[in-house]
Amino acid sequence: MAEAAEKLPPVQEIFDPHSRAYMEDPVPQCLALAERGPLVWYEPWQAWIMTRMPDIMACWKEEPLSSDFYDWEFAPPRPPEDQWSNFERAMIGHSLLADHDHHRLVRRVTAPAFSRNVVDAIQRKIEPDVKRLFDELGQPERFDYIEKIANHIPFISITRMVGIPEKYWPDIKQVIMTFTETWNPTISDEQRESARQDSNRAIDIIREVIAERRNAPEQDDFLSTLLNIEAENEGFEEGDIVTLILALIGAGADTTLVAQQWSVYALLKHRDQVEKALSSPDAFSNAFSEINRWGVSSKMGFARYAPRDMEFMGEQLRKGVMVLMMPHLKDYDPNYYDNPETFDVERVFDPDVMFGYGPRYCIGAALAKRQLYLTITELFKRFPDVELDGEPERDDSDHNAIVFKRLVLKTNVA
Ligand code: HEM
Repeated sequence: MAEAAEKLPPVQEIFDPHSRAYMEDPVPQCLALAERGPLVWYEPWQAWIMTRMPDIMACWKEEPLSSDFYDWEFAPPRPPEDQWSNFERAMIGHSLLADHDHHRLVRRVTAPAFSRNVVDAIQRKIEPDVKRLFDELGQPERFDYIEKIANHIPFISITRMVGIPEKYWPDIKQVIMTFTETWNPTISDEQRESARQDSNRAIDIIREVIAERRNAPEQDDFLSTLLNIEAENEGFEEGDIVTLILALIGAGADTTLVAQQWSVYALLKHRDQVEKALSSPDAFSNAFSEINRWGVSSKMGFARYAPRDMEFMGEQLRKGVMVLMMPHLKDYDPNYYDNPETFDVERVFDPDVMFGYGPRYCIGAALAKRQLYLTITELFKRFPDVELDGEPERDDSDHNAIVFKRLVLKTNVA
């Protein structure tokens, strides 16, 4: 047995998410990695990879590992407090990514801001923006869905959701889209530093918006809700509001952009299921889980860090080592899904872990699904006969997902 294991090629030879082969078809590499065992050492990233769902679910639920980027062994040192820039002030101590008790407090007190009613109100605000985008597009014979529509949606939704006035849009637009790169452990220090500087500029703008809103409270948006929450809850303060807004921007921008592309691509590859998928927001919600499963776009999964030297799943982890949870490895596993090659928008997901699980379940899940539903419904309303203009070329430059360079659609308008 040990002899057989020794003959296996190094893991990086069978699994390389930055390779061309992975970009073209990640499935064989995902299945091969999962076969290596439940916890696999991945030399290029100096990280362990968790490959199996029961272990991932337990880790999500019980949180034996840290989610704090600064606990990573290769993170830049946590600077002393008198040297903090706005970025550290927002990210350390106040953060959704930091200690458990504070995280729970933030989630508990902010839960009302993510209720269904609030999502409905946000949807009403986003709807005219989406329609305006399609109005501006007009009736072209073909167009690039990413350039004309998808690129604009995350920004519109988040700024509308938070309540950032339009006069700040040009400035903030330039600096918020790189935010997730500030804690991506797999990119260069330079790239992370540049993202950190962008984030500092974004924080200045957010603080200005907060100051303005304090003088004109009670507007129908997330920021006003958060200011009320701040007034009523000791331990929740302006730093938390800034962090939360950054977290919404960070967690909601890239994900939505990727989701837009894959949703349109997957539905156009399966025209016969479009009607079913868009028959209601709930139907779309399930369809989206299938889109995400069928498309397997993730490269890295979700990072955690060993808070101390510890034994974990039978291995000895050194303090600060990264552990990556990769739920996407299961997406074409026939032991997990019946007929994984088949795209079926009515497939039953139980449990559905596309938005995570347990205490760190995605805050923006309802909003994400609603804005996707809204945009894609509008696409098919405007262009009922829309189709892909050939197979789109994939883009290997994204740090965390397989995306397309362009997604050119033929509208077939008369
Ligand atoms: C299709 C789009 C999206 C997907 C697939 C997605 C998925 C996820 C997943 C899997 C997690 C858990 C991550 C982990 O365990 O490390 C998460 C967390 C999170 N998501 Fe999303 N998300 C999406 C969109 C959004 C949007 C639009 C927002 C904000 C408006 C958002 C805000 C967040 C936040 C703040 C967290 C961290 C929660 C915490 O640590 O308590 N996400 N998301």
